Amino acid sequence: MPDLTPSLAYLHERITRRPRVMLILGSGMGALADELEEPVRVPFADIPGFAPATVAGHRGLLVAGRLEGVECIALQGRYHVYEGHAPDVVTLPIRVLAALGARTLLVSNAAGGVNPGFRAGDLMLLDDHINLMWRNPLIGAVVPGDERFPDMSEPYDRELQALAERVARAQGIRLVRGVYCAVAGPSYETRAEIALIRRLGADAVGMSTVPEVLVARALGVRVLGISLISNAAAGLTAKPLTHEEVLEASAAAAPRFGALIRGCLRELARLPEVEVA
Ligand code: HPA
Repeated sequence: MPDLTPSLAYLHERITRRPRVMLILGSGMGALADELEEPVRVPFADIPGFAPATVAGHRGLLVAGRLEGVECIALQGRYHVYEGHAPDVVTLPIRVLAALGARTLLVSNAAGGVNPGFRAGDLMLLDDHINLMWRNPLIGAVVPGDERFPDMSEPYDRELQALAERVARAQGIRLVRGVYCAVAGPSYETRAEIALIRRLGADAVGMSTVPEVLVARALGVRVLGISLISNAAAGLTAKPLTHEEVLEASAAAAPRFGALIRGCLRELARLPEVEVA
């Protein structure tokens, strides 16, 4: 378990207001962080304990600021298991932002659509997940403050889901709902793997999010998850899949994604805050 102290000391010097919400912005969805008011920008590479981000479309920047009246810390970019990072490195930002006081996580990702009813560009509310990464960031000695055996019967907060669905309906944004399956990557799936993943009950597949959600839940942080369906998964389309296609679809959907997140933050601002542990 990495020591949070150096990261926290560094961030405490730069970020003076307590964040209420942490926003993880997936591939091609980082633009929203540029809309934060009174921003304080900190490159991951400058934060002691944080590894530099390496993926195209992921800037590796932490931005603290206000959005829709809510103090947020947005991560433009994240760490992935496929980069070779240990699961505790991937999830260090969650621990650090929770320690800064954020008790709600809005996590997003780009994902392949496994459900044949989904279209590229759809936004999917995560109802549940399947962890096929074969890794779990909670393995090891119990970190003080963590649950040893966190309940996962409802990783995605029901109240936040209802709130997101209300916002989407009010704004006329198509928001599907489904199960996200996490794989380690970095290769995209074979057609046979997608057929398997569909049979397992997943609606979308991607290479992130689940490690962060597991740590958030172990800390008692509430989670809202949103996938941008950037492409039809292997075998559901005749075309080979590229990272560029994923980034293009994300960029095209970014305004809708931004409107949904802003709407959710506006509503969140009206809810009483859960107790800070
Ligand atoms: N598979 C896995 N990860 C992804 C995909 C996909 O089809 N699209 C975006 N991220």
